[in-house]
Amino acid sequence: MPVRRVTKHGEKVLKTACPPLDYEAIKGELPALLKDMWATMQAARGVGLAAPQIGLSMRLCVIDVRPDGKSQRLVLINPEIVSLDGELNDEEGCLSLPGVYHKLRRRARARVRALDENGVSRELSGEGLLARAFQHEIDHLDGKLFVDRLEFEDKLKVLDAIKTARPNWD
Ligand code: NI
Repeated sequence: MPVRRVTKHGEKVLKTACPPLDYEAIKGELPALLKDMWATMQAARGVGLAAPQIGLSMRLCVIDVRPDGKSQRLVLINPEIVSLDGELNDEEGCLSLPGVYHKLRRRARARVRALDENGVSRELSGEGLLARAFQHEIDHLDGKLFVDRLEFEDKLKVLDAIKTARPNWD
């Protein structure tokens, strides 16, 4: 169950939109891949991890925001936003930008459709942190990081913070 290296801001795989995943083609290797993703996410103390963050351009992500302190593992394959509403301005971070956080306005509620690890199509609803995680992880699959969504002035601040933090990244 190896923990994989997490790709960092500036690496090409994080800027590239991932092509849809062919479930039938991947299902044999999916259990081992998911084990690695969970191990990597937990080692980094994250609440979500997208495949490009371990260098794979695949529309696949895992999320566990631990509602009520209990693990609730979600696997999303080819996720799509079904609906969004409300707004919430909250602090956001990313395992690909270690040590860098900034407030970002996101939608407060999100409904997504995705295949689960068994290839079954499901719809999931989330509020607050889970809604944020859906939006953040789907952004990763579209080649976007949260810093890309900031207003100009905030982006400059965060780019400065990245410059300071980068020497400590692996
Ligand atoms: Ni992220």
